Amino acid sequence: MKKVRIDKFLSNFGLGSRKEVRKYLKQERITVNDEVVKNPSFHINPETDTVKFDDEILSYKEDFYYMFNKPQGYITATKDASMPTVMDFFQDVPFHSKLFPVGRLDIDTEGLLFITTDGQFAHRLTHPKWEVEKEYYAVVKGSIKEENLDRFKEKGIYLKKDKYQTKPFEIKVLSKSSDKSEINITVKEGKYHIVKKIMEEIGNPVLYLKRVRIGPVKLDERLSPGEFRELTEEEIRKLKQAIKLP
Ligand code: URA
Repeated sequence: MKKVRIDKFLSNFGLGSRKEVRKYLKQERITVNDEVVKNPSFHINPETDTVKFDDEILSYKEDFYYMFNKPQGYITATKDASMPTVMDFFQDVPFHSKLFPVGRLDIDTEGLLFITTDGQFAHRLTHPKWEVEKEYYAVVKGSIKEENLDRFKEKGIYLKKDKYQTKPFEIKVLSKSSDKSEINITVKEGKYHIVKKIMEEIGNPVLYLKRVRIGPVKLDERLSPGEFRELTEEEIRKLKQAIKLP
């Protein structure tokens, strides 16, 4: 394979723009065969040279997977003209330009969001066909009536405003008083505002919403809102198993 400039290789690889890549070189975060390289016009052979960014080998790892505790006030998108996005937290991460959020949480919803470079993984986790469970902790207005809960588990609910029949879902009541109730609600679909719409239909509108689980993976309690970590091999394996990916 032909030799290429290091700055071109790194930006083509998705590490960042040419400008960002030059910053990383200047910051001595790039090594070639374990030697720091600062010169953007240094030439490498991508097939035989080992290029690392902050000690991470760039040529081997195919995809990246992060668990993020989304804070309120950020929209789930890669870019927005006026609002801060969840990707603002990932600016210094390798390949940040290739990363995107899996599904979406509303601006005022907190909690578990996966951020990845893996398109098929994201597609299956959000596609209704795979029925991946999403569990939320919610504070809702008023005292929730418990007599309908078994019916929702079997039949879901009809959302009159949307003329839409939901899939079955499960509500567990954690506490209730006359002015508000705390619940866990588990749904198997990612329709826009689904939890808020369900709770509106039931008559207990959502006051606070936080996603705590997606399929087999729970939000790591050690992550404060705005913090993230890489998913472990075990978490990736379990998630891929749930959506029948190798
Ligand atoms: N359902 C909602 O209503 N909002 C979310 O952010 C996620 C699920």
